Amino acid sequence: MMRKALIGSAILLAVALVVLLFAGGIHHPKEYLDPWERSYHEGFDDPRLQTVAFGLLAPSSHNIQPWTVRLEEDGLAFTLFVDPKRLLPEVDPLSRQIVVSQGTFLENVRIGAEELGFTPEIDLFTEGEIDPEGSASSMETRPVARVALVPGEARRSPLYGAIFDRVTTRTPYLDRPLTDGEVQKLLDLSGEPGVAVLIFQEKADLEAIRDLAVRGIEVESELSGPMRETGEIFRINEGEKNLHRDGLTLDSQGMPGLLQALVQGFGTIIPLGDERMADSWRKGEVERLERTPAYAIIVTDANSRTDQVRAGIVYQRLQLAGTVMGISMQPVSQVLEEYPEMGALYLEVHERFAGEGETIQMLVRMGEAEKAVGHSPRRDVMDLIAG
Ligand SMILES: Cc1cc2nc3c(=O)[nH]c(=O)nc-3n(C[C@H](O)[C@H](O)[C@H](O)COP(=O)(O)O)c2cc1C
Repeated sequence: MMRKALIGSAILLAVALVVLLFAGGIHHPKEYLDPWERSYHEGFDDPRLQTVAFGLLAPSSHNIQPWTVRLEEDGLAFTLFVDPKRLLPEVDPLSRQIVVSQGTFLENVRIGAEELGFTPEIDLFTEGEIDPEGSASSMETRPVARVALVPGEARRSPLYGAIFDRVTTRTPYLDRPLTDGEVQKLLDLSGEPGVAVLIFQEKADLEAIRDLAVRGIEVESELSGPMRETGEIFRINEGEKNLHRDGLTLDSQGMPGLLQALVQGFGTIIPLGDERMADSWRKGEVERLERTPAYAIIVTDANSRTDQVRAGIVYQRLQLAGTVMGISMQPVSQVLEEYPEMGALYLEVHERFAGEGETIQMLVRMGEAEKAVGHSPRRDVMDLIAG
């Protein structure tokens, strides 16, 4: 009798596991990871498409991938635009992070173009800057950059390989400060006019930043608009990742594979809902902030759209250089966001860490990650090409 019951329970458990694993999409091939293959760009003959294949591996706010590329009719040039259909109006009402995310793309394009034997000429805002409000019409008519690929000699940047290895790592980091040499290397690699990088490791600074960041997360987690926006772009299972090939996933948190597959299945069958998701996000972030040995702040002299793009270029360099050295990073952007409920914390972080007239464009936790994490989805190159 007892034995039968045990066998029955074991069968039930096995069935439940299989149902969860299939609901989570374990049977789907991970097509959304194709662009991370080192040879992916070779699938395109046009070197402009090849460089776009490097660009789209860049980090972007919420992994929204806000990039549209228009190929010019003659010659090897293209223009990069913000895709006005890919914005985050709740957390980023002025599209500042969206514009920072253009800089990360351009830095990958630059490094990739050099690898292919071109000297890229990258001119920012050739038709004038996107307006400060981030209107769709200004995004549609004013390119962020014109990129011309001028044939030259192939040059391998020491950061090239990191384009494929870089990942936003949302795990606790080890209690090991960066060495002076590491800090210096990061700073050396990240120059750009009007942009400064500050790295903090002193106890008092760490505590002040952590306190601000935690309060920022608390504010955001209580707000239905930002939480809905984040929930909408969260891809809970493999099917959703393949369908959208953008957005946030569980892959960056370093869960063991089977556990992640089960959590994905569970979340598919019984969706968490915005409130519980906010709660789980807040708890995870607070734990990660507590286990962070260093923070970086990227600050610009002013806050023009050009400054924002340059901040993105610097962030990408910083993260690529960190990747080479085994230093992981995760931006923590909440206190830098421009919606009214964040106003007091925005002021506080600027009063403490920025000079008169300066804008903090990125706040980033840094350190050696406790474990490796997986890549997030990327769209196909051709999805970025207009027309
Ligand atoms: C401007 C900007 C702001 C970001 N802010 C955050 C943030 O507040 N929290 C976070 O966990 N990741 C943040 N990220 C990281 C993105 O979510 C991440 O790049 C994206 O999900 C793609 O993942 P990947 O970097 O691993 O390729 C930010 C990235 C950029 C470029």
